[in-house]
Amino acid sequence: MDRIRIVGGNELKGVIPISGAKNAALPLMIASLLTDDTLTLENVPHLADVEQLIRILGNHGVDYTVNGRRESQDTGYSRTIHFTARNIVDTTAPYELVSKMRASFWVIGPLLARMGEARVSLPGGCAIGTRPVDLFIDGLRALGADIDIDIGYVVAKAPKGLIGNRYVFPKVSVGATHVLMMAASLARGETVLENAAREPEIVNLADCLNAMGARITGAGTSTITIEGVTSLQGARHRIIPDRIETGTYAMAVAMTGGDVLLQGARSDLLQGALDIVGQSGATITQTNEGIRVARNGAGIAPVDVTTEPFPGFPTDLQAQFMGLMTMANGRSKITETIFENRFMHVQELARFGARISLSGQSAIVDGVAKLKGAPVMATDLRASVSLVIAALAAEGESTVNRVYHLDRGFERLEEKLSRCGATVERISG
Ligand code: UD1
Repeated sequence: MDRIRIVGGNELKGVIPISGAKNAALPLMIASLLTDDTLTLENVPHLADVEQLIRILGNHGVDYTVNGRRESQDTGYSRTIHFTARNIVDTTAPYELVSKMRASFWVIGPLLARMGEARVSLPGGCAIGTRPVDLFIDGLRALGADIDIDIGYVVAKAPKGLIGNRYVFPKVSVGATHVLMMAASLARGETVLENAAREPEIVNLADCLNAMGARITGAGTSTITIEGVTSLQGARHRIIPDRIETGTYAMAVAMTGGDVLLQGARSDLLQGALDIVGQSGATITQTNEGIRVARNGAGIAPVDVTTEPFPGFPTDLQAQFMGLMTMANGRSKITETIFENRFMHVQELARFGARISLSGQSAIVDGVAKLKGAPVMATDLRASVSLVIAALAAEGESTVNRVYHLDRGFERLEEKLSRCGATVERISG
């Protein structure tokens, strides 16, 4: 299993290109199941989760080609991929595939809407608490689907098609909003989704669906209205820059000090999180080329944060922010409200000498002047990158084990960091 070796203590200086957003790429790729035409997605990041979803979509009959060159020759960052679901050959998404990535469960929406049936294994993914699928089931039932659970599979049927309806999410869910928006696009009549997720990835998907001929308004607000159409066509669509990758590198710079341009990043996608990083002592400026993050000799100020659905502070940046706070001049409180059990990084950060105690949904972090390098173990995608950030600032050598988590969500992490002066290398095997 690959490891990453980091010798900490260097300031980060230079340019980090920001990749296409993983959490936008996945639902957009799944949207290709809604049409027999070609959906072309630009700015698709090279990530293990993307490759895994390509395999899952292939199982349903989706063909793909990477723009103009063989993949073996493709050395750049994010690329353009054409997805064509001419014929859906299988409406079952098996356990072996879905268990590796939770978002693959989302195929249930387009398969049901286009084919009138779907049999999808209950999902897997990061071990960050129980992640049920009740909202997907309730929502699809509201659109007229008949749904049973059969030995680990959700079996959904709507042989006469889905029917538009009003559905109020009892809890904000990004995935369930994506799925209901896709399903309702091909339902008969109007669907109104209330208390919908407002994440930028929802807006990115709605824009793509509209380019494919869907009639969706209100994406980005908590009420989304979808006027169903009988079929969708192909389109060409660009994936937004990854706001979680952006926030992660901003926090890395805030922690190590230095001055980095996050090329292609958009502050409007994560203003709330950037404000918090600013309060902790970094200077953040949006330029024509991206976001510039700098910190001079001044220390890191403690800031309390609570994770919330967009536009609040994202749960996907909680671990990284905790990494930053381990070296703050004082005490901070970090509260997680989206996922229970999303504090697995706490005991690993402690190996660097961080002082963190847990109290229910909150972590109390008492900043220390120095962290010391240590061998640590990554436990989930965002937790593992928080360990990388801490290792960059720690004195001496660290190894971050089980980096396959990082490969799921961070494109060429070690290359991006080492170009900015970090001592970081991957050790294979
Ligand atoms: C997406 C993101 C993930 C991010 C999360 C929250 C992708 C690929 N993943 O995950 O990176 O951390 O949003 O911003 O975009 N819930 C239920 N029942 C359901 C569905 C969800 O109770 O049927 C709960 C979850 O357990 C969680 C909360 O709702 O407590 C929010 O989850 P959700 O927004 O659905 O997360 P994902 O879409 O899985």
